[in-house]
Amino acid sequence: MKDFLRLYDFSRSQLEAILDLADQLKADRQAGREHPLLKGQSLGMIFAKSSTRTRVSFEVGMYQLGGEALFLSSNDIQLGRGETIADTARVMSRYLDGIMIRTFSHSDVVELARYASIPVINGLTDLHHPCQVMADLQTIREEKGHLEGLKLAYVGDGNNMANSLLEGCAVCGVNIHVATPFNYKPDPQVLEDARQAAKLNGSAVIWSESADEAIADADVIYTDTWVSMGQESEKQERIRVFRDYQVNRERMKLARPDAIFLHCLPAYRGYEVSEEIFEGPQSRVFDEAENRLHAQKAIMVSLMNPEYALFE
Ligand code: CP
Ligand code: NVA
Repeated sequence: MKDFLRLYDFSRSQLEAILDLADQLKADRQAGREHPLLKGQSLGMIFAKSSTRTRVSFEVGMYQLGGEALFLSSNDIQLGRGETIADTARVMSRYLDGIMIRTFSHSDVVELARYASIPVINGLTDLHHPCQVMADLQTIREEKGHLEGLKLAYVGDGNNMANSLLEGCAVCGVNIHVATPFNYKPDPQVLEDARQAAKLNGSAVIWSESADEAIADADVIYTDTWVSMGQESEKQERIRVFRDYQVNRERMKLARPDAIFLHCLPAYRGYEVSEEIFEGPQSRVFDEAENRLHAQKAIMVSLMNPEYALFE
């Protein structure tokens, strides 16, 4: 496995191996044990969209692993002036040991990975956000002790988060119920692939329009912004369409009493989630944000240190 582009590319045992390593790196860090597993290596981080968590956690993660990270705004490199992805990939492969990219089109990331001879990690595209879901799965395992057989409800927009959660849950044996308005369903191919993966892993994949049905008896309630990066011009229309999809106290009552609330952040209180739930006792959003660091360090080590390579 050279790249980390979408979770459907991985088997359950591979994702679990990354999560186990993430737990170990987190425990090391808490105990003050250093782990320079990528000593002397360099990661290029290409950003065509804004970021707080992804940028800071990858940069700090590389530092903690004994390497370094370079922030490359796509506006400042020649890619932004029309140099091709193929040429950028081949040039960067001569200097760096890995590339993390956050951009719009998923096919651009696939092309970058095709031409790069070094690992490429997807730090969010319009279609997927796999690094976030690894942190989410780590958080759920910490809270519930296991993944298999749990029910996760995703409520809101059928966006990159919905797509990656569908894949991550299906591969790891978590039942997932996604509730979105009819015209804002997850990607149809992702939904189909998730159904195939779920069949192999004994879990269920359900889409419906009903947020209440999704949340009923769920162990994990997840939502994301109604207006993703690049959709700013649709903001008013989206607020109107999604207004009945808020995660609030009434809705949370339908979930299991020990259910937790997750959100990839940034969050917009009063829209996709009420202030009360976001700040309430069931919310684990800041543990989840912290786990971006540990999960991504595990991803980088698995791709960039041959001793930790993922085998099937
Ligand atoms: N959740 C997430 O990816 O956050 P950033 O956009 O801040 O990186
Ligand atoms: N769906 C959001 C996730 C941000 C981390 C977006 O793409 O903007």
